[in-house]
Amino acid sequence: MEKLIITGGNRLEGTVPISGAKNAALPLMCTPLLTGEPVTLTNLPRLADITTLSDLLNHMGVGIMIAGANGSRMKGRSLTFDASNITDTVAPYDIVRKMRASILVLGPLVARVGEAIVSLPGGCAIGNRPIDLHLKALEALGANIDLEQGYVRASAPKGLRGGIIDFPIPSVGATENALMAAALAKGTTVINNPAREPEIVDLADCLRAMGAQIEGDGSDKITIEGVDHLHGATHAVMPDRVEAGSYAVAALMTKGNLLLEGARAHDMQAALDLISEIGGVVSEEKSGVRVKSNGHLNCFGLKTEPFPGFPTDMQAQFMALAAVVEGKSSIMEAIFENRFMHVPELCRLGADIAVSGSEAIITGVNQLKGAQVMATDLRASMCLVLAGLVAEGETHINRLYHLDRGYEHLEEKLRFVGAEVDRVPG
Ligand code: EPZ
Repeated sequence: MEKLIITGGNRLEGTVPISGAKNAALPLMCTPLLTGEPVTLTNLPRLADITTLSDLLNHMGVGIMIAGANGSRMKGRSLTFDASNITDTVAPYDIVRKMRASILVLGPLVARVGEAIVSLPGGCAIGNRPIDLHLKALEALGANIDLEQGYVRASAPKGLRGGIIDFPIPSVGATENALMAAALAKGTTVINNPAREPEIVDLADCLRAMGAQIEGDGSDKITIEGVDHLHGATHAVMPDRVEAGSYAVAALMTKGNLLLEGARAHDMQAALDLISEIGGVVSEEKSGVRVKSNGHLNCFGLKTEPFPGFPTDMQAQFMALAAVVEGKSSIMEAIFENRFMHVPELCRLGADIAVSGSEAIITGVNQLKGAQVMATDLRASMCLVLAGLVAEGETHINRLYHLDRGYEHLEEKLRFVGAEVDRVPG
């Protein structure tokens, strides 16, 4: 198994090209299931999760072709998806267990072909990750839902019909499944208390380009007028706000100066506001967002919330920052029940962290010390990379497959701006 070796202490300075967003690309890759016409997605990141979902779509009979010149490795990929001939409506356990977002084929398949059989995703490192809200949303649109032998079978032989979907809590995935299903449901659908993340708006933009009639995405109420069919389209995946936020933290921790090329400030305002409060300097430029720090950083408190609140996907990265900021910082994880797996690994690097339930109190230390650590989930992996960038000596990070799910060209991007990082066989 490969590992990363990082020698800490370098100041990072320069430009980091931000890739297409994993959490936008995954639902976007399910939209072709809604139409028999080709859908082209550009700015797709080269990530393990994208490959896994492509394998699932292939398994279902979706043709996937490289679209046009794909340019340099550091640029996003363009792929055309052709779902004119869906041959299989089953998403098998061995694929779904690797990548929970496979559940996002449920809504489009039921809407287009009237049936979907998808393995229950099961839990993951950060929590139980139920899908009850996905299923309730589809039932509200007239789908029959059966659970058998670890699979969800959703069916709507006469097609879906518009309905009212009231989410008790905002769920990103359930909102995405509901949006895609409602686009082809007969009549009007209203989604109350949907997720408001930028990835939801990106998905709605793509669906509108395909002919869907959607209003209110990004707000607390979305209205969809179902249409008989959707047509092909071309859509660019939005930039990855979580990747951008991760490199913003790297700029602060190394007292550096990074231009996050392609990042959109309004996608990550809560994180940027906190960075300014901590003492970083944030400025919007034509080509992206610049984050720098050359002064004192203040300890801070954060609580993760649905968008537009502080994103849970940036919690681990800010904990790495808190570990080296003088004073006591507090982090409350209010979205997932087990998203502190990075704490014991950070403590191996010398961090001083006390966890009580969903709250962590981090007392900043003068210097972290390099050590062998283990990645446990995607964002925890990045937390350890950030800590390694400032730790004394070498930090060896194992189980890189977690990192490769969500950070494209990580070593190259870090080396471009001055980090000493190598990927070596384990
Ligand atoms: C998406 O997961 C993201 N994944 C996650 O990013 C992100 O952390 C999460 O949204 C929250 O922003 C993708 O977009 C592929 P949710 P999702 O449904 O849709 C509960 C990363 O690191 N819930 O918004 O699964 C759930 O348990 C990943 O890139 C139900 O109770 O998240 C959680 O407590 C990790 N029932 C809360 O809602 C349901 O049916 C929010 O989950 C669904 C969710």
